[in-house]
Amino acid sequence: MEPLKNDSFLRALLRQPVDRTPVWMMRQAGRYLPEYRRVREQAGSFMNLCTNPELACEVTIQPIDRYRLDAAILFSDILTVPDAMGLGLRFLEGEGPRFDKVIASAEDIRQLPIPDPEVELRYVPDAVRLIKQNLHQRVPLIGFSGSPWTLATYMIEGGSSREFQKAKGLMYDRPELAHQLLGKLADSVAAYLNAQLAAGVDAVMVFDTWGGALTAEQYRLFSLDYAQRVLDQLKLRPDGRRIPAILFTKGGGLWLEAMADSGYDALGLDWTIDIGAARSRVGHRVALQGNLDPVVLYASQETIRTEVGKVLASFGHGSGHVFNLGHGVHPAIDPEHVGAMIEAVHEYSPAYHAGA
Ligand code: CP3
Repeated sequence: MEPLKNDSFLRALLRQPVDRTPVWMMRQAGRYLPEYRRVREQAGSFMNLCTNPELACEVTIQPIDRYRLDAAILFSDILTVPDAMGLGLRFLEGEGPRFDKVIASAEDIRQLPIPDPEVELRYVPDAVRLIKQNLHQRVPLIGFSGSPWTLATYMIEGGSSREFQKAKGLMYDRPELAHQLLGKLADSVAAYLNAQLAAGVDAVMVFDTWGGALTAEQYRLFSLDYAQRVLDQLKLRPDGRRIPAILFTKGGGLWLEAMADSGYDALGLDWTIDIGAARSRVGHRVALQGNLDPVVLYASQETIRTEVGKVLASFGHGSGHVFNLGHGVHPAIDPEHVGAMIEAVHEYSPAYHAGA
């Protein structure tokens, strides 16, 4: 395959020099885009969209055609892995994800299979191969998975949760069972990401959306250790070059030093932490990705531009920054406001890379 036409995203993740700060957006392929809503309607359901490689490919590339973005992210969902483990995933209109089966006992955990990603999750590597063909090396493609802990919360709660009573209950009352479940999830996630890597993704990202719900001790024992067990199994040097891996822990700002020790190349930041402060704590060890407050995109385009400028200025000069939101873009956001954010990164960021 010919080389990537734009590899600034990969370079920034490895803290190599770039001409400007690369930018992409979590949930960039999603409901705020009218062209996404059309394909989603055609698919009939969100899961039909995820399991149809042609349609998944189409919506992955939509934001790349519309905006000057520096990376594409595979269109899928983190909950495809527990679905492939036999839990039966459904997305009910307006209610979010629901599993038919929940994990409630030692026997449930013992019986959980580690899915073969080229069999039960075949539609994902198939989508990756199709997207790579159709992207024509314009920008890198990001593969992803949920973290073992974040997947465990959905599997134990049966869906989204506010307080995580059941998931944390298992951790407090039967820690050995929680560890068994997380170990199986780490091995399933690693196999799943390795299948995406073999199919051609250029970077991988682990979404630990609910790591921030834990205490400091639990975060290390039940979230970070298993994110590391995933990383340790990944084939990130297929031909000598390093494929970057990103760890995003929402609410992880307190634990950046531990995260930076985990071996991931880059840390995703939510909006609650000042990115300049994060850089002084860990920026000599890892790249940082983030962290504009997604709610800023409801404000005027002028305010959006100002806030983009503040994030760039806070990170400051030099490579090691990938611009992103601190969490996914909301479905009600005006696509023109997204464009204003991206264009502001293009306009303001070269000043921070001059002389590189
Ligand atoms: O970022 C991207 O553009 C790639 C696609 C992507 C989706 N979900 C598509 C999606 C990615 C990377 C995810 C990850 C994901 N999914 C996470 C981790 C990241 C995060 O947001 O914290 C989580 C926790 C999930 C689980 C999930 N998926 C929930 C709770 C929901 C329902 C939310 C809702 O608003 O309905 C989803 C559905 C989902 N995943 C949608 C999209 C575009 C919306 C569904 C639709 O189109 O009907």
